[in-house]
Amino acid sequence: MDVGSSAIRAALLFVSLAVHHGGVARGGGCDLYKGIWVRDEAYPLYDPSRCPFIEREFDCLMNGRPDRDYLKYRWQPNPQCHFPRFDGRHFLSQVLKGKSIMFVGDSLSLNQWQSLTCMLHVALPRANYSSARTGGLSTFTFPEYGAKVMFSRNAFLVDMLSTSHGVALTLDSIQGGDLWKGIDVLVFNTWHWWLHTGRKQPWNFIQVGRATYQDMDRLVAFEKALTTWAKWVETNVDTTKTKVFFQGVSPDHLNGSDWGEPNARNCEGQKEPFSKTYPAGPHPAQLVVEKVIGAMPKPAVHLLNVTTLSQLRKEGHPSVYGLGGHRAMDCSHWCLAGVPDTWNQLLYAALLPS
Ligand SMILES: *[C@@H]1O[C@H](CO)[C@@H](O)[C@H](O)[C@H]1NC(C)=O
Ligand SMILES: *[C@@H]1O[C@H](CO)[C@@H](O)[C@H](O)[C@H]1NC(C)=O
Ligand SMILES: *[C@@H]1O[C@H](CO)[C@@H](O)[C@H](O)[C@H]1NC(C)=O
Repeated sequence: MDVGSSAIRAALLFVSLAVHHGGVARGGGCDLYKGIWVRDEAYPLYDPSRCPFIEREFDCLMNGRPDRDYLKYRWQPNPQCHFPRFDGRHFLSQVLKGKSIMFVGDSLSLNQWQSLTCMLHVALPRANYSSARTGGLSTFTFPEYGAKVMFSRNAFLVDMLSTSHGVALTLDSIQGGDLWKGIDVLVFNTWHWWLHTGRKQPWNFIQVGRATYQDMDRLVAFEKALTTWAKWVETNVDTTKTKVFFQGVSPDHLNGSDWGEPNARNCEGQKEPFSKTYPAGPHPAQLVVEKVIGAMPKPAVHLLNVTTLSQLRKEGHPSVYGLGGHRAMDCSHWCLAGVPDTWNQLLYAALLPS
């Protein structure tokens, strides 16, 4: 996003907050994505045992994680910023009333969707809810508010098509987007599956127009696909009615060299966030995301710019307290309660001016 449009956003929010919240301003070109993690004994935002539908893979406490400090960190943007407190009741009864929000992407979208459903349920434990899953679509409904919180599993956003030669990952085609039309708030994400090779790679070859490739540089493929997605948004979404977000790349912590601990093979045993500038620097996929979104007409898409702040949370992953224990070290997803709650606080803040 360019400085101009965020300044306009900040100015609009200034007006809206001054009117509705007694004048506390988020002025001065404030960037909520810049700041520090601070310890806060009032955290976490919810007790995961009070979220009855939480998926086992994110429920690190239930899976036996003994240390609890990771639950106690609050994101604090630069001091001149006003970072609204997450208010689940307000979110459901005002922002989401009669509306639908859909997370579209891989299991990191599932992680953020699950976090939001828990944050809303714990804020309004007596509100009725229903949860349904059909194919790759999970829908969490609050009937009294007419609000739907959805998750559509979609690893690449572009199509995978079955052909007589096998499965083609088509970098220039999105036919699967009908599901996304008519949704009020869309939060897209894709990255992690682009790195998969061997048995975890669900396609046989890459296709662009009539050209086919056995493989290609994955960052190049990712950029082509994101460009196709950006065109899809420009062509199919009226961004004056639908708010479109891109959930920034969620960083892994699989190599201690990234945070200056070359002897750490992965995130296991990490108990504290990293508190200085992250040694590995910006994530290469984050730079691709910024390039593609930066080239779109503004302000079509709001980048939920969570990559850098999440890089600091090397201790926020399940590690051996996910689904598979020691057999499936998980340094990609995040424990809940945890880091995705902050992503949702930022999403809430970005939705407020409406
Ligand atoms: C996202 O945040 C990082 C770290 O604060 C910053 O360097 C980058 O410019 C931001 N990107 C955008 C598009 O605002
Ligand atoms: C919640 O659902 C139950 C069962 O469907 C219904 O009887 C009750 O009226 C609902 N509560 C509200 C507040 O709508
Ligand atoms: C971790 O990163 C360092 C520096 O980039 C690299 O030399 C090393 O091979 C990596 N380790 C593993 C296990 O991938």
